[in-house]
Amino acid sequence: MEYIDEIASLKDQISFSGQIEVPDGIDKIVIAGMGGSGIAGKIFQDFYTKKPVTLVNSYEIPEFVDPKTLFVAVSYSGNTEETLYAVKKARDKGAVIRAISSGGSLAELVDDTVIVPEGFQPRSAVGYLTIPLLRGFRLFGKSEVEKTKELLVGEDMHKDPFQKLADGIFSTKRIPVIFGTPGFNSVAYRWKTQFNENAKVLAYSTSFPELNHNDTMALENTYRKEEFYFFVLTHKQMEKEIADRIRITSKLCKIEMKEIEGDGTSLFSNVFTLIHKGDYISYFLAKKRGIDPRNVSIIENLKRELRESN
Ligand code: PA5
Repeated sequence: MEYIDEIASLKDQISFSGQIEVPDGIDKIVIAGMGGSGIAGKIFQDFYTKKPVTLVNSYEIPEFVDPKTLFVAVSYSGNTEETLYAVKKARDKGAVIRAISSGGSLAELVDDTVIVPEGFQPRSAVGYLTIPLLRGFRLFGKSEVEKTKELLVGEDMHKDPFQKLADGIFSTKRIPVIFGTPGFNSVAYRWKTQFNENAKVLAYSTSFPELNHNDTMALENTYRKEEFYFFVLTHKQMEKEIADRIRITSKLCKIEMKEIEGDGTSLFSNVFTLIHKGDYISYFLAKKRGIDPRNVSIIENLKRELRESN
């Protein structure tokens, strides 16, 4: 499969029927995963606020993990060192363990593994990796999937604006800076990581309103300001306070932000359409640079060398 087809398959991925089984009696959730798999937990955090959700993006797990903890390990390959360590530690503490993976050691280690289709780069399997979490907690309905699917198909057919944005970033060689808004912190971070891994450029993400208490000062005064390309991720249902903040920040800090708006009316449709737009922009930037967006050889070599040194 061409890498662009992996990206375009998001419209199919969101109908994935896999779901984690959520038992009664749990009082907190821990989601472990790295990189393109770890983003699933971050997205989940933007959807679910009924019980505490803690993300683990390392080897260590929180001390509070106990038999009332639902511990979900997400690893596309199923072989990521940090995630496997974390699962073993969670098991020692008696947590209820679930996994989402295409196989590997994780699927062998955890009986309750939702198996996702093989053949993708982990980060382009974002739908397959996230849907089982959202579905397990019943965080979207069938109509949202249908509507979002239509919107994603629409974007697949009208990729020109994304290509133009990538051309603009490329021609000025600017560093992407992505501002999220409430409910979309995960998407801003996703854009950053897609710029990193697909286009191989450094990028930075932060979110409103928190950025108004720190980044704002740098936005006004930073050196090499002309070397940054500012994006802000919005949606039609955005709170007035946030829209005001964006407008006033832009004025006071004298920066232009390229607004990218999500589509549809639900959190589900806005999150997945915004993810899709970022995926395309980072893809086209890679192509413009003559770089293979699929290639993550340094990440793979690093994993191999670490394994060999153990
Ligand atoms: O997208 C990628 O290739 C990486 O960010 C991987 O997701 C990351 O290295 C973790 O690997 P895995 O997703 O297989 O657990």
